[in-house]
Amino acid sequence: MSVIFDKEKKIFHLQTRSSSYIISIYKDVLLRHIYYGKRINSLSGIENLIPKEYVVFGINSPHLNYSAVDEAISQEYPTFGCGDLRMPAFHAEFEDGSSASALLYKKYKIFSGKNSLSSMPSVYTETQEECVTLEIELTEAVKNVTVILSYSVFEEYDAIVRSVKIINNEEYLNIKSALSMTIDIDCIDMDFVHLHGRWAKERNIERASLIHGKMEVDSKRGSSSHMHSPFFALCDNKADENNGNVYGFSLVYSGNFSCGAEVSSTDTVRAYMGINPFDFNWLLEEGEIFETPEVVMVYSDCGFNKMSQIYHKLYRERMCRGYWRDRERPILINNWEATYFNFNEEKILNIASEAKQLGVELMVLDDGWFGRRDREDSSLGDWYVDKRKLPNGLSSLANNINKLGMKFGLWFEPEMISPDSDLYRNHPDWCLHIEGRKSSLGRNQLVLDLSRQDVCDYVVEAVSDVLNSANIEYVKWDFNRNLSEIGSTKLPANRQHEISHRYVLGLYSVLERLTKAFPRVLFEGCSGGGGRYDAAMLAYFPQYWTSDDSDAVERIEIQYGTSLVMPSVTMGAHVSAVPNHQVGRCTSLSMRGHVAMVGQFGYELDLGLLSKEEKEEVKKQINLYKSIRKIVHNGKMYRISSPFEKNNTDWIFVSDEKTKAVFFHFNVLGKPNPNSYVVKLSGLSENKIYQERTSEKVYSGDVLMNVGLIFSDNKDFSSEVYFFEEVM
Ligand code: DGJ
Repeated sequence: MSVIFDKEKKIFHLQTRSSSYIISIYKDVLLRHIYYGKRINSLSGIENLIPKEYVVFGINSPHLNYSAVDEAISQEYPTFGCGDLRMPAFHAEFEDGSSASALLYKKYKIFSGKNSLSSMPSVYTETQEECVTLEIELTEAVKNVTVILSYSVFEEYDAIVRSVKIINNEEYLNIKSALSMTIDIDCIDMDFVHLHGRWAKERNIERASLIHGKMEVDSKRGSSSHMHSPFFALCDNKADENNGNVYGFSLVYSGNFSCGAEVSSTDTVRAYMGINPFDFNWLLEEGEIFETPEVVMVYSDCGFNKMSQIYHKLYRERMCRGYWRDRERPILINNWEATYFNFNEEKILNIASEAKQLGVELMVLDDGWFGRRDREDSSLGDWYVDKRKLPNGLSSLANNINKLGMKFGLWFEPEMISPDSDLYRNHPDWCLHIEGRKSSLGRNQLVLDLSRQDVCDYVVEAVSDVLNSANIEYVKWDFNRNLSEIGSTKLPANRQHEISHRYVLGLYSVLERLTKAFPRVLFEGCSGGGGRYDAAMLAYFPQYWTSDDSDAVERIEIQYGTSLVMPSVTMGAHVSAVPNHQVGRCTSLSMRGHVAMVGQFGYELDLGLLSKEEKEEVKKQINLYKSIRKIVHNGKMYRISSPFEKNNTDWIFVSDEKTKAVFFHFNVLGKPNPNSYVVKLSGLSENKIYQERTSEKVYSGDVLMNVGLIFSDNKDFSSEVYFFEEVM
């Protein structure tokens, strides 16, 4: 049983394979956070560690004494205004205008399995046995408002999934903030780790020691964004990839979020995560329920690799879903960097036929096939084929590509509308806008108002019509700007701050309907590259275009940072032309191939322009990828050397039984007369003997992990792949 309630001690004990999470009910009313960390098997004596006397807020208690507010009380779901003055998890306004509240323990329920959220993607189960859920009900001390905290404990996956439901039975409740979690931790000696970036440079790892006050990252952009990922970790100051305590928090949400750590004057740490309270409110009608997105919490007692491995497995198997979840995805060629908007049917067929000869399986036609879209400034919303470029239509193009023996895929950006489009001319009110205020353009486009049901219905219909018109087996779903002038003509003034969240819910409903209606279509997510590449999106997009930067050197950093949370099987990665279109760098074809092989492999260049030798190399890359992809996508990933710290990057993927492993070594710049250095591999079995497939050299796991391989890099942009198999 992974959730135990000790009635005597009034303690809930949640246990995963390697972690324990402990909550106590203090004086029958206050829910207190006690512990999160390494798994504890016996709770004997824990009650002695829980202080006997505390100020209990918001109730008629003899201990009530606001002047002695104790900021050291660790709470499980703190409110604001009744004593605790740190970051609240719940903050709401009542009919009388007051916003102080206190949530008191009422009852609990433990059951096998897990409920899904009704309006948002959530981690799912395949069997009741793989998870146990604890629901704790709290009630507001004065008002008729119920809050249910939910904890689903995935013992074997080693993760706990939290979310919150707020049920209103008052005439008026205006939620100003409802976070998905807070955790109070009694240790200030920790680092805050997060992923920041920008367009074409997503998910750089940043780490800093906690400070008094708040360290926070957020998004106010209407999407989880390129700039900050809805993820952070707290770790021991000395934690590294393989050592130390690490706590990971990943939010299953694609809109405005906020997360951080607040250190109080008494050195307590409150970690928090949820929908961004900034510019948010939600009027919850009497009898209605508001649900928060889920947070997936992972604790590792041995560094970041273990944390990432837990996320990878859980997200690969219990967030990604549907037909493509466990299937090998087709190797694709995308025409974007080969042609941009300048293509016709012949060009596309030529690219496809060259690619087919080298082993590529799917031809993706990117932006520019619809309306009169010759540049970025028109036609989004006009999802009908441009007969000037494709006179025979999509169906004929798809058939011709199918005849070559390839699948056909298509780009869309369905959430957008160009001011120069028939859609805008017919429905100028369908975009997010504020009456009387000029709308800011982003990439010359506006954003459709997905808080409206009629607009969501239009998007589903428009995309469905195209998908029904031809044999389209793959969709690239792009999203290229942030939300601004966030206003909707369908909502009253007092609900305008609900729009950003309603937009995200609208988007989820659209994606839900489309992925259900076209279950065999492989949907790849994209947001100007890897913006909005978050856990929730994996429920619809089993793969995601990791970044618009296809340069191999840049991609090493981007993919390394992305791998903190996202499994490699979800990372779209392509070999592109040199000089690279984003940074002008000329890297070797070998390195470009090896970097892309770590994700969902593809090409994005005109293969017809390659030399004969290069084409041969492409063929070999495709064969190599086919032979290693099972291990790279399903195995455990160990990051060994970081591109954020070194000139060389190393990572290895090891099969579950440790019988096979694929090791990658990348070197950015060569050095004259270079020193040699050792790279020690990880994750192998010390007792097994392995043979490397190409060199046929034999090593023990012991030697590979403790003595290591020797490298000496004298060439720029070099890379190696070693495929180890156990010798029987
Ligand atoms: C941004 C994407 O990230 C690119 O791959 C490409 O699809 C362009 N949009 C097309 O406009």
